[in-house]
Amino acid sequence: MADHTHRAASAEALSRRVFLANSAVAAVGLLGASPARLAWAAERTADRRIRMGVVGGGFGSCLPWHKHPDAVVAGVSDLRSDRREHLMKTFRCETAYESLEKLILAPDIDAVAVYTPAPDHARHVRMVLNAGKHAISAVPLGMTVEECEQVLDTVKRTGLTYMMSETSFYRQETITARQWYNEGKFGEIVHVEAEYYHDHTGPHMAYWQTPEGRTWRYGLPPMHYPSHSTAFLTGVTGERITEVSCMGWGDDTQALKDNTYKNPFWNCTALCRTNRGHFAKMSVFWHVQVGFAERATWYGTKMNYYMPDPRGAGAFVTSASTPPRPQPLIEHWKTDMLPEPLRHDCGHGGSWTSIVHEFVDSLVKRRRPAIDIYEALAETVPGIIAHQSAMKGGELMKVPQYEPKA
Ligand SMILES: NC(=O)c1ccc[n+]([C@@H]2O[C@H](COP(=O)([O-])OP(=O)(O)OC[C@H]3O[C@@H](n4cnc5c(N)ncnc54)[C@H](O)[C@@H]3O)[C@@H](O)[C@H]2O)c1
Repeated sequence: MADHTHRAASAEALSRRVFLANSAVAAVGLLGASPARLAWAAERTADRRIRMGVVGGGFGSCLPWHKHPDAVVAGVSDLRSDRREHLMKTFRCETAYESLEKLILAPDIDAVAVYTPAPDHARHVRMVLNAGKHAISAVPLGMTVEECEQVLDTVKRTGLTYMMSETSFYRQETITARQWYNEGKFGEIVHVEAEYYHDHTGPHMAYWQTPEGRTWRYGLPPMHYPSHSTAFLTGVTGERITEVSCMGWGDDTQALKDNTYKNPFWNCTALCRTNRGHFAKMSVFWHVQVGFAERATWYGTKMNYYMPDPRGAGAFVTSASTPPRPQPLIEHWKTDMLPEPLRHDCGHGGSWTSIVHEFVDSLVKRRRPAIDIYEALAETVPGIIAHQSAMKGGELMKVPQYEPKA
């Protein structure tokens, strides 16, 4: 059974008729398509595997699209030839394109996985949708509120599917928290504390600067990359962040003075208010003596759940009336929530296979994916506003809200 139990993740299935109509309109209207192309648009909704294009041969090569029984990788692309070859080998795919711009012209590709640099996501996703293809992208959705809203408009106009591949949403502990929340085990979750720690200094400076030059991560505002933290809240309770006050810290490192983002911060922590009157604490740190940690604590009126933390403590469940109890990892990836070929452990807390399945299954079943455009906005936009707040010394700021019409 798929893991779409909470409100935001509920399988609000698109009707087959609407999907067919929208796909055909998108393909014809936006591409000036011939009758042959219209026939293809209708044909691709017939029962057959989703033909994926995968763009970006770094992290983009990690998600096992080729193992999904309802998908096939029909084309790959990277600007770098070595990465194109890597993608072809990984996905056993014989067709490579020199760029995303060329790949999206291929008539036999239904959906495109966009794993290009973060500042390009919104633009690339809109190109994919405007070419009449469904899109999934790496996080974040975009770097400005305006470009995130442009993706929303494009999704609405084309009627095509967009999903953001947020790994924290499908970590094994997050799936457990989501299930326990829906079963009422937490009571009311009144506070979530989420942390994304990823040191980018010293030996890890290569994330920012390589011998070839600066990468897109050079000086990236921490809160422009918020969803590894925010998803631990929105992806479990389904609530939305409505206000945020954020503090940042930086020093006199050159990279914080001359980056293209004009970002002066290494680390940021945002205090957030939610639409259910709760508050939550979201941190993103690039300069911290922790190689890597993506974790949360969920505080409920009946129970708290602590993910393992960088001090070496394992996962714990606590309540005021019982002693702390170690919580072994529940390996959801072993269950029938995934098709058999995807039932294996994988990176980012076992999340990659779930992301692949959720996107492919949403297309096959013509339903909204759990991390659809609205969930992507709810995980991304609070961070963009949080960065603005930090630039204003922590001013409490409103976060724009986006929800589908009931
Ligand atoms: N846990 C996670 O969710 C997670 C982890 C790692 C990376 N990411 C995200 O994945 C994305 C990729 O990360 P990365 O580390 O591989 O970055 P990267 O910069 O190493 O790779 C991006 C690739 O995209 C290619 N590219 C750019 N424009 C293109 C175009 N027009 N056509 C074809 N190829 C193009 C580049 O040549 C490059 O190889 C980023 O957005 C990053 O934020 C997410």
